[in-house]
Amino acid sequence: MLAGRRILLVIGGGIAAYKSLDLIRRLTEQGAEVVPVLTGAAEEFVTALSVSALAGHRVYRDLFDLTDESEMGHIRLTRSTDLAVVAPATANLMARMSAGMATDLASTLLLATNRPILVAPAMNVEMWRNAATQRNVETLRADGVVVVGPEEGDMACGEFGPGRMAEPESILAAITAVLRDGPLKGRRILVTSGPTHEPIDPVRYLANRSSGLQGTAIANALAGFGAEVEFVTGPASAPMPSGCRIVQVTTAEEMMSAVMAALPVDAAVMAAAVADWRPDRVSESKISKNPSVASDAGSSRGQGARDGLAFGCVENPDILATLSNRTRSRPRIIVGFAAETEDIVERAKAKRRRKGCDWIVANDVSPETGVMGGPDNQVHLVTESAVETWPRQSKTEVALALADRLAKALSAPG
Ligand code: C5P
Repeated sequence: MLAGRRILLVIGGGIAAYKSLDLIRRLTEQGAEVVPVLTGAAEEFVTALSVSALAGHRVYRDLFDLTDESEMGHIRLTRSTDLAVVAPATANLMARMSAGMATDLASTLLLATNRPILVAPAMNVEMWRNAATQRNVETLRADGVVVVGPEEGDMACGEFGPGRMAEPESILAAITAVLRDGPLKGRRILVTSGPTHEPIDPVRYLANRSSGLQGTAIANALAGFGAEVEFVTGPASAPMPSGCRIVQVTTAEEMMSAVMAALPVDAAVMAAAVADWRPDRVSESKISKNPSVASDAGSSRGQGARDGLAFGCVENPDILATLSNRTRSRPRIIVGFAAETEDIVERAKAKRRRKGCDWIVANDVSPETGVMGGPDNQVHLVTESAVETWPRQSKTEVALALADRLAKALSAPG
């Protein structure tokens, strides 16, 4: 989460400038305010109109624009932001930065800023490999500039190699990491998210409707509060959170191993909708709907195929209960989730005691609430001493409120 953060985004001139539009969208989605600056060359690739429409902010273009100078001088422009990002950073712009030149608005702002600077280089392979560029990048790194990418791949010019601008997703993750600061700084927090898929055969599985949106929002909020987040996710449809260490798993058993491997952590938020059961055996080959084919295959492939789709179920390990009942390296605060369709609070209270966790975030997932897969949530926070009913709000707001509660609880003497 980048709520309340102001980012000065310098867009350099290069074909990768179109990706900066996606970066702006992602930054604003995370709650950041983007102050865009276009170099003269950038205007050959993207228009000021599209940039300002996406950023919801006016675009700064010319050092000698008198209106800019009287309304917001270039020094003040840099002081009011938290971070300067240059994406794409051309070879020319990086050369000017490393030499300390101030020949236009972008380079002047980058020289004048006293905030961290992050650059995402993008250029032709040979321009990147050129000794002068490599020298300039080293100088920038030595000056404390964070360099993200470039990545290797096919280039717009038809060549292949390093020079492609890092994907907006990676730049966003790097931005979140640079800005990591806040009440959870120095805390390690584990978040589980998404559904698990329990295989029946190589193509079929048991699953549930969890989108992973709430878990992702929680991971983003915790990272935005400065926590080092271990994000263990099943196959979710929600986009991955930024600035977190991501471990992707498929089954409940894999999630259990990933959770244990992430310890020790200060707190754990178990938002995953873990499948309660898994098929008692997994067919190695696809089960045919034609029983004779299935049994033929079964005889030739040993324990592989089976007759039709009949299978029993075994219970999956309860990750939340296992973690809560640990005596060694038990997280100080463990938050479980209770997705219910009736008697929400009573069931959540019972679940808190049964599982041995500290808090339960309980919500009504009846289809008419639109919570499952939707943008909003209405939750009750059940602790040992109280039940709080929070208003219906966006999943991002729920996540921010929970991150705030965790920050306060972890800072209390334990
Ligand atoms: O028992 P129930 O599935 O309702 O419990 C929900 C809570 O328990 C969630 O926090 C979920 O992440 C966690 N859970 C788990 N392992 C399971 C089942 C649920 O960690 N096998």
